[in-house]
Amino acid sequence: MSGTMANFFSSVRPSNNRLAVPTPAKITKQPSISSTFLANTSLLGKVAVVTGSSRSTGAAIAKCLGEHGAHVVVNYVTDAVAAEEVVQSVRSQGKGGSIAVCADTSTLQGGQFLLDEAVKTFGKIDILVLNAGIMGSKTLAEVDENFFDSHFDINVKAPLFMAKAAAAILPSPGGRIIFFSSSLTAASSVTPNALCYLATKGAIEQISRVLAKDLGTRGITVNTISPGPVDTPMFREGKPQNIIDSIAKQSPSRRLGEPDDIAPLVGFLASQAAQWITGQNIRVNGGFVV
Ligand SMILES: NC(=O)c1ccc[n+]([C@@H]2O[C@H](COP(=O)([O-])OP(=O)(O)OC[C@H]3O[C@@H](n4cnc5c(N)ncnc54)[C@H](OP(=O)(O)O)[C@@H]3O)[C@@H](O)[C@H]2O)c1
Repeated sequence: MSGTMANFFSSVRPSNNRLAVPTPAKITKQPSISSTFLANTSLLGKVAVVTGSSRSTGAAIAKCLGEHGAHVVVNYVTDAVAAEEVVQSVRSQGKGGSIAVCADTSTLQGGQFLLDEAVKTFGKIDILVLNAGIMGSKTLAEVDENFFDSHFDINVKAPLFMAKAAAAILPSPGGRIIFFSSSLTAASSVTPNALCYLATKGAIEQISRVLAKDLGTRGITVNTISPGPVDTPMFREGKPQNIIDSIAKQSPSRRLGEPDDIAPLVGFLASQAAQWITGQNIRVNGGFVV
């Protein structure tokens, strides 16, 4: 490596090892709970925080983690009734507990409050799912600073600083961070109005890659899930039905994804069975983008 490159890499790596947690020489393989796949995917006793989980993909994720046995912290901003329904659904599994926390995670204070409430109730956090996001529609000619900032606040700043706060308390080894991007970051059919949304998702994919290396030294896995079109309010917003139908037909299955198509991968990545999967961007889109 040339001297310049060596300097670059040593300069971006903090010399004080950032997290005040001793770095083990090697993360040893965790013993399996049993030889069965199901036992290895159990989340019994784990505590999960899912941002934006009162509806859509986040609600499906919260319910799925509850089915796997986790205690689930359901986060919402606007709809307390919907959040409470998700809480009741998790509790009705009879495995883990659940609470709803109203917190706007686009602010650092909101994100910290959400994590604090989780720890106050369940004593720890094992799994952080950074699902909340917004997708506005503006081309280069239309974009303004407020639009840009709102996208980066909720889609990039919030997950990054929540990951930072959680990294200090996630179990080492065993912690899980799961970011959300979009299959559109790899699609040539991208449209001009996706400018800010996809800029944020590109940033998230790179943040996830870097944190996988960083937190991986402590046995914390960091992955990104990139859904394809999923039939939620985010996807439908502003699209006439004929456009929605034509997008659905671009998938080999000729349908849109459903939140339930995405949630099981979160359950798996959160489990011990996925301890060797980190730094990956996994596209879940039914073949919409291959
Ligand atoms: N749907 C798709 O086709 C698609 C495709 C690729 C990737 N994704 C990604 O998948 C994730 C989930 O998308 P979705 O389609 O389920 O979206 P959605 O239907 O719009 O739901 C978004 C969720 O994020 C929450 N949220 C928004 N701003 C928030 C804030 N400031 N603080 C806390 N929560 C906030 C919303 O809460 P409230 O209900 O309280 O507003 C809502 O629960 C997103 O990251 C999205 O970018 C979606």
